[in-house]
Amino acid sequence: MKKNKVMEIRKEFPYLDEEKMGRKIIYFDNGATSQKPKCVIDALSNYYSYQCANPHRGAHYLGMLSTELYEGAREKVKEFINAKFSKEIVFVRNTTEALNLIAYSYGLSNLKKGDEIVLSVYEHHSNLVTWQYVAKKTGAILRYVYMNKEHELDMDMYKSILNEKTKLVSLAAASNTVGGLIDIKEVTRLAHEVGAVVSIDAAQFVPHIKMDVQSWDVDFISFSGHKMYAPMGIGVLYGKKEILELMTPFMYGGDMIEYVYEEEATFAPVPARFEAGTQNVGGAVALAAAIDFMERIGIDNIHNHELELTDYAYRKMKELDFVEIHSTPNYNRSPLIDFNIKDVHSHDVATILDSYDIAIRTGHHCAMPLHTYLKENSTCRVSFAVYNTFEEIDFFLEKLKEVRKVMGYGS
Ligand code: ALA
Repeated sequence: MKKNKVMEIRKEFPYLDEEKMGRKIIYFDNGATSQKPKCVIDALSNYYSYQCANPHRGAHYLGMLSTELYEGAREKVKEFINAKFSKEIVFVRNTTEALNLIAYSYGLSNLKKGDEIVLSVYEHHSNLVTWQYVAKKTGAILRYVYMNKEHELDMDMYKSILNEKTKLVSLAAASNTVGGLIDIKEVTRLAHEVGAVVSIDAAQFVPHIKMDVQSWDVDFISFSGHKMYAPMGIGVLYGKKEILELMTPFMYGGDMIEYVYEEEATFAPVPARFEAGTQNVGGAVALAAAIDFMERIGIDNIHNHELELTDYAYRKMKELDFVEIHSTPNYNRSPLIDFNIKDVHSHDVATILDSYDIAIRTGHHCAMPLHTYLKENSTCRVSFAVYNTFEEIDFFLEKLKEVRKVMGYGS
């Protein structure tokens, strides 16, 4: 993307207003959550200012408006991920809730002793402890796929693990730590060949790359709004209609029922069946605004810019002999780099960088089995978004060298 285009986009982000912020922040923690553009903040504020009422309930102007906006947002998400039906879109709080919904509503009822669940070693805990729970409850077995030498999913191992006992494959489309992408279509095709259902955690994928659930033929997709310029507290579970329709509710309460008697109840059709209680309409409306924002720039343009930034940072960091990179070397990746500075604890790296107003993430990134595999307790991660620039990366690289010096190494 041309520099002046990026500069235009940066104007839309209030956090980059130095005067108001009182500082000039270099925000490289987009994998944790992205910053929000003004159009998204305005959509949320406008909803609560002029459009707010409980949806699906009140027979009054605002109630109907709120319902229209909420269902309009569902339609927008349907188009965005190329789902066949808008009823395949369930609004949830975030990826974690979507994955729990699959685990509770699908996993607990469909898996049994001896069935196998396939995960990768780099899964986020939300796609891992959920399945540990299901495995404990049902007697199913967890099978792990490890990484190839490029720290991406080992496809040979994946193929060799699949068998007639595999009933569920649950994989991240993009790792939040090592950054590798999977071939969703191929992973799904292979799993379907043995009769397994496929759930894809797209939290680190959807902010960057165009989604096409129909062409992938995937059964479930989960993602959060807050990593794709929308507010926290709104996320999406996509499920194929025929699978969702066979699933029982995950949570019980208002607006998810059909009839309620003293001793029992019947439940609403999907997706309402899975959206108990007052819905996050403001969040859904703001998510729709975030989709408009991304589509206005062009998702391919966003991703190409982020790939160029990541490639630049990766090549420059590779030149530094005190930096150990754990992420994939492949150009096509989720826009992040996970690394350590030799002999310096990652928390010291982050604290020193923060003193220069550079925000990065450190820790185990909710991927402890991966860190055990990497033989690291804690790592640093920079992750990029559409508003980041090459100049910011240069400044970060300069300060990375200083971290070494401050910690008593090098000159
Ligand atoms: N899952 C988020 C991350 O990777 C919080 O940072």
